[in-house]
Amino acid sequence: MKHLSFVTSLVIALSTSSSFAGDAEVGESLFKKKCSTCHQVGADAKNTVGPVLNNIVGNKIAGIEDYKYGASIVALGETGAVWSEEELSNWLANPKKYLRAALDDKKAKTKMSFKVKKEDERDNLIAYLSTLSE
Ligand code: HEC
Repeated sequence: MKHLSFVTSLVIALSTSSSFAGDAEVGESLFKKKCSTCHQVGADAKNTVGPVLNNIVGNKIAGIEDYKYGASIVALGETGAVWSEEELSNWLANPKKYLRAALDDKKAKTKMSFKVKKEDERDNLIAYLSTLSE
């Protein structure tokens, strides 16, 4: 019986852990530290250096109204691509590299030069951003 319950709890542990099991609270403080200099969120958010990031998870890439994006991310948005959690994680790891790979264009550029190198930080940030989606 002992053995069986071990197997059962292992199965439960494996099935509940996804690669995006981030912590939204940790993500919120990371966002304040790392992203809020360029991005606003919340009811009165305005586009500043970067676009407003309310509802970004699942949104069309380069789809925030009245923000003047760079040409490369606009080109990617025009393919109809949306920000899944996986796309967001790849973007945050290295925005320029992400656009170059996604567009298959070695000259693609982006106005966002900031990178989040740690995967757990990206997961936490994405968990927080998901709470801002309706
Ligand atoms: C130094 C300023 C700066 C920082 C810091 C920054 N960003 Fe950005 N971000 C930008 C700019 C500028 C763009 C627009 C990119 C373009 O047009 O090429 C952007 C675009 C984005 C987009 C794409 C938005 C869309 O509508 O497609 C996401 C998502 C994003 N940023 C998330 C983040 C997150 C999360 C952080 C914190 C980890 C962060 N950014 C930190 C400046 C910044």
